[in-house]
Amino acid sequence: MADQQTVLGVWAGRSTFILAATGSAVGLGNIWKFPLITAEYGGGAFILVYLTCIALIGIPVMMAETVLGRRGRHSPMASIWKLARESDVGRRWSLLGWMGALTGFLILSFYSVIAGWALAFTWNLGVGDLRGLTGEQVGAHFDALVADPVRLTGWHTLFMVLTALVIARGIHKGLESSVRVIIPLLFVLLIALLGYSMIATDQFGRGCSFLFSLDFSQLTWEAVLAAMGQSFFALSLGMGAIMVYGAYMPNDASIVSAAITVTILNSVIALVVGMVIFPVVFANGVELSVGPRLLFVSLPAAFSQMPGGQIFGALFFMLVSLAALSSSISLIEPMVAWATERFSMSRIVAATIFSVLVWLIGMGTVFSFNLWSGEEYQFYGMTVFELLDFVTAKIMLPLSGLLTVIFAGWMMKRPVIYKALNLSLVRFNLWRALCRVIIPVCVFVMFAVSLYKALA
Ligand code: PHE
Repeated sequence: MADQQTVLGVWAGRSTFILAATGSAVGLGNIWKFPLITAEYGGGAFILVYLTCIALIGIPVMMAETVLGRRGRHSPMASIWKLARESDVGRRWSLLGWMGALTGFLILSFYSVIAGWALAFTWNLGVGDLRGLTGEQVGAHFDALVADPVRLTGWHTLFMVLTALVIARGIHKGLESSVRVIIPLLFVLLIALLGYSMIATDQFGRGCSFLFSLDFSQLTWEAVLAAMGQSFFALSLGMGAIMVYGAYMPNDASIVSAAITVTILNSVIALVVGMVIFPVVFANGVELSVGPRLLFVSLPAAFSQMPGGQIFGALFFMLVSLAALSSSISLIEPMVAWATERFSMSRIVAATIFSVLVWLIGMGTVFSFNLWSGEEYQFYGMTVFELLDFVTAKIMLPLSGLLTVIFAGWMMKRPVIYKALNLSLVRFNLWRALCRVIIPVCVFVMFAVSLYKALA
């Protein structure tokens, strides 16, 4: 097969996939959600379970998505269609590509609104709006922001414009160039922030022991499911993002080592972010709030009371915004790739159309916090934002993850995927056993339990 022939293009460097996939993986999920659920479910004990999920589920699924993308060399929708035909299985499998791309698309609609908050806080801290404010005052500032549909729309719009600009410039000048800047910058920012958290707070040890203490008493089944769900979201799996980046991967790059590298980088960054957040919050006696308020109230309040906190706080939120940007481009890329190959549409047109659509859907999330927060606008007791979050994260994501491994493990012909993965026989058999039995069972249980809990 003329593998490398594609209308979409191939990354210029062998390691670009690693940069791009790390950019996709590291995002709001790692920076905000990971420290939060780690603290909730018993620190180090939870981290152990999470790392096990990453190793046993995350890495094999990432390999499966990447290999499907690289073998298909098209958008996820067309790749799965092509591979289904090649493997003599029903073309209806292409729905899998569609489901992933649609999940990413819907996730981006609210991801962009939250990323807009990060932009807002970068600005507020940068210009000194929050200087010296107490936790309560920062809380009031945050409440005023989310209650204001105009300001929220402004930041959401700015974030979508940035996303569209990168996407419109194409895979080399847009995606590739941006991740080449963003990823090294993320590392520099993170190291600076870690240094700050070690030096400027006297709570580094306490923060770390909060994060890493082995408290098995809180390690419930619920925690295990949360770890599994987090490993999917954090690694950007089940949304066609990794698949489409795999489609641009040169044939001589190793899929296994790429998947392992991305996973390690992603986990290390998540842990280091936790080592910045908790010491800073503890050092300032700010109340440790839960949910979005940890990142958007406790943390800025803590920064705003520290020497140099304005600068480092602004840098922290810049880190969050950049990490979100390198994720958002991967959430929309499957749709844009599909439109360009299917209708020979220019990337500029495709990026504009899909960004406007995402922006429009995102307005539902913007209004969920203010104009539409009332009961009359809720569905089953959920606002538009909560509904989108629930449907995508709890239903569509596990389902498309499940179908992806079943497709790679059961539908693809063994010799084809063996050759494409280029593994030793023992490792290949291990990967296949995980994809055929172990992961589907785990993901199915996760899916069933979260659905049951939601409906019960
Ligand atoms: N992995 C990203 C995060 O942790 C979210 C994401 C999911 C991005 C799926 C792209 C695709 O924030």
